[in-house]
Amino acid sequence: MTFNVTVLPSGVTFEVDRDEPVLAAAIEQGIGLPYGCKDGACGSCKCRLVEGRVIHGAHQAKALSAEEEAAGMVLTCVAAPQTALVLDNLKAVLASNGMTMDNIVSTSVFLKDLNDFAKMNTVYATYFKVAPPARATVEVARLPRDVKVEISAIAVR
Ligand code: FES
Repeated sequence: MTFNVTVLPSGVTFEVDRDEPVLAAAIEQGIGLPYGCKDGACGSCKCRLVEGRVIHGAHQAKALSAEEEAAGMVLTCVAAPQTALVLDNLKAVLASNGMTMDNIVSTSVFLKDLNDFAKMNTVYATYFKVAPPARATVEVARLPRDVKVEISAIAVR
C-alpha cells in the first residue's frame, strides 16, 4: 500500500510505501527534504506533521524527544506512513535553528502559472498572520520535478 505525502508550504507531493521511510522515498523521487545522518541521530530531517500518522523506527532522543513527538514532530528518515501525510517543512527547519516564521524577512515565490496566485496567496497568508515579510512573486517556465510552486525564504535572528 502506498500513501501520498504533501510537503508544505510548496505543496509538492510524492508517494511512499507503508513500510518505507518518508525521506528515502523523497530522495528516490528527487524531492528536496532536509536531512543529515539519515539514521535518526541528528534531527536535521525534523518536520511538523500537519495531518496523518506515522510509525517511527529507532532514533535518538536528541534527534526527536518524546515531547516533540507528542507535539506532532516527525523524523522523516525513520518515519513510515500509516496514512496519507501532510508535512510542514519550513517551520521545522526554522525551529531547529531556534527561529520562527517571525524571523523571515523576505520570500521569493516561483509559480509555474501566475493564474495560481490567489490560491497560493490563500495558503501563504496562513503562515504570516501579522506583518508578512517582503515578497517577490514571479512566473517561471519550469520548476524542478515540474511542481507548481516553489518558495524560498530568508530568515534573520
Ligand atoms: S536525517 Fe538525521 S535524524 Fe533524520
